Amino acid sequence: MKPICDILEGRLTAVINAVTGQTNAPALVKPAQNPRFGDYQANGVMALAQKIGQNPRDLARQIVAQLDVSDMCDEPEVAGAGFINFRLKPAWLAERLTEASRDRQRLGINPVENPPVTVVDFSSPNLAKEMHVGHLRSTIIGDVIARVLEFWYGDENKPHDHPDKKIIRQNHVGDWGTQFGMLLNYLEERNFPPRQEESALNEAAGVKFLDFDISDLEEFYRQAKERFDKERDFAQKSREWVVKLQTGDGWARVYWINYVQISLQHCQDIYDTLGVKLTRADVRGESFYNNKLASVLSELWGANLLQESEGAQCVFLEGFRTKEGNPLPLIVQKSDGAYLYATTDLAAIRFRVDELKAKRIIYVTDARQKLHFEMVFTCARQAGWAQEEVMLEHVPFGSVLGDDHRPFKTRAGENVKLKALLDEAEARARRIVEEKNPGLPEEQKQKIARAVGIGAVKYADLSNNLVSDYVFDWDKMLAMEGNTAPYMQYAYARVQSIFRKGEVEPEQLLQQEQGLELTQPQELNLAKLLLRYGETVEMVSRDLRPHLLTSYLFDLAQSFSVFYTNCPVLKAERRTRTSRLLLCYQTAQTIRHGLGLLGIETVEQM
Ligand code: ARG
Repeated sequence: MKPICDILEGRLTAVINAVTGQTNAPALVKPAQNPRFGDYQANGVMALAQKIGQNPRDLARQIVAQLDVSDMCDEPEVAGAGFINFRLKPAWLAERLTEASRDRQRLGINPVENPPVTVVDFSSPNLAKEMHVGHLRSTIIGDVIARVLEFWYGDENKPHDHPDKKIIRQNHVGDWGTQFGMLLNYLEERNFPPRQEESALNEAAGVKFLDFDISDLEEFYRQAKERFDKERDFAQKSREWVVKLQTGDGWARVYWINYVQISLQHCQDIYDTLGVKLTRADVRGESFYNNKLASVLSELWGANLLQESEGAQCVFLEGFRTKEGNPLPLIVQKSDGAYLYATTDLAAIRFRVDELKAKRIIYVTDARQKLHFEMVFTCARQAGWAQEEVMLEHVPFGSVLGDDHRPFKTRAGENVKLKALLDEAEARARRIVEEKNPGLPEEQKQKIARAVGIGAVKYADLSNNLVSDYVFDWDKMLAMEGNTAPYMQYAYARVQSIFRKGEVEPEQLLQQEQGLELTQPQELNLAKLLLRYGETVEMVSRDLRPHLLTSYLFDLAQSFSVFYTNCPVLKAERRTRTSRLLLCYQTAQTIRHGLGLLGIETVEQM
């Protein structure tokens, strides 16, 4: 089924075209802000009337006279300065929602036609350090964007290596560059661990012979960084190690591969705990592009875009200026020959467009990288690596703050480690379960604690407007009231308990001939909202703003509450009972599915 917005938009646009001869005039149908004016509203006529010099209300009336939506709506009304308002017919609503409820897989939502191959670049931590709270948002938000698009593109059941897979996750980890030079130098100095026999070299790829874990690496890194910043000699030697690594020195690579493996294993553990759909197969780190950087330079040179400035190779792009108003260069090679973060990103765009065939590339990073991406995108377009039909999108987000409204840190002023944060989330949720439901079996308590704890952290992050900073507040995110994960999970569990109490099997309910019959205003409101799920998913896949989905789910849960308080379900007479049970069922399905797109689990009982 097409979203209702799209059906109305399609029919209106056709009539607009017939009446005015304008082929590119959108009707701009949106859900109505105020239910007093109906369910949907078209705002496009005003701009069009202005463009072609007509009275907007007259034009709207002409259009309405030609429009046939009698199957689904009451007579449309022209209002205000030329709005067109639509009110859906209860019988049509009921029929549509009944049909949607019988589609258990997709809830009546068709995948979009011909979706573009889309790369979602997210998480992408710099390796050699433990993942910390700074990596939380890209990981969570990127995961949701990938899940929503996967569903919208009808891709969710295709395995990762399916030839037609449209969603390609890329974990662009920082596995290259100075930090590794520092580590290698540090290792060599400490003669630690001893070099093994030459044969170890041959087994290098993937062989784990360094018996460290991530906390050792973290400690080495800390010490190496301290010395790097203080001791010239150490810094110099570290840079030499970077060069050795880049030119393929055997031992440098052996140690490096080991470091990377240990780090990636740590990241994978975090992803698994978080329930984020990233695997080792999605990792394509900066090192992958190492042998592609020289040609980035030569092609920029060939395209006449390179300029030398203070010994560095730069691209000067129109429109980019420093605070003082001077031209701001995109530096692609430093005077010592080293390549930069931007160079790798240019190589990555080429690879994604040419090899992965991407038509849409989405980058999820914090807002401080905004300028970086603007420059990289502009440069890639000028160099001809991304034609106009390739969409390049940066999804910037704000910071996680502590209750002092400064970047979230531990008491000691250190970055908060993700592992510790997620453990605490689970422990706190566990205490809530213990309080509310002490009688549950141990295993179930554990499962609920995990779903609620991790869910709360994710939901709190996603329910904010992306670009705003937000304060990390345990009590708020774990509250059972308000726009939180526990509230949504509870709403789901509550519907499930109606089914348990009434001993109703959803299977049987769906097999019945009888569908929905909507009469009460609370039933109608809930039904309309349920049918807006597809539109919401569509909006998120277009605008990449997950909070639209959390707001929708919150509205839905509240609308369900109002319905449930006013309309008895199990005690209603037979036909009404069936219809209301179907409403309950579809509410639960939608919440479960919506939370699923947010990467949040539901539980049957709380
Ligand atoms: N590693 C980078 C960081 O930690 C993020 C990489 C984002 N992706 C990209 N293609 N630049 O800031």
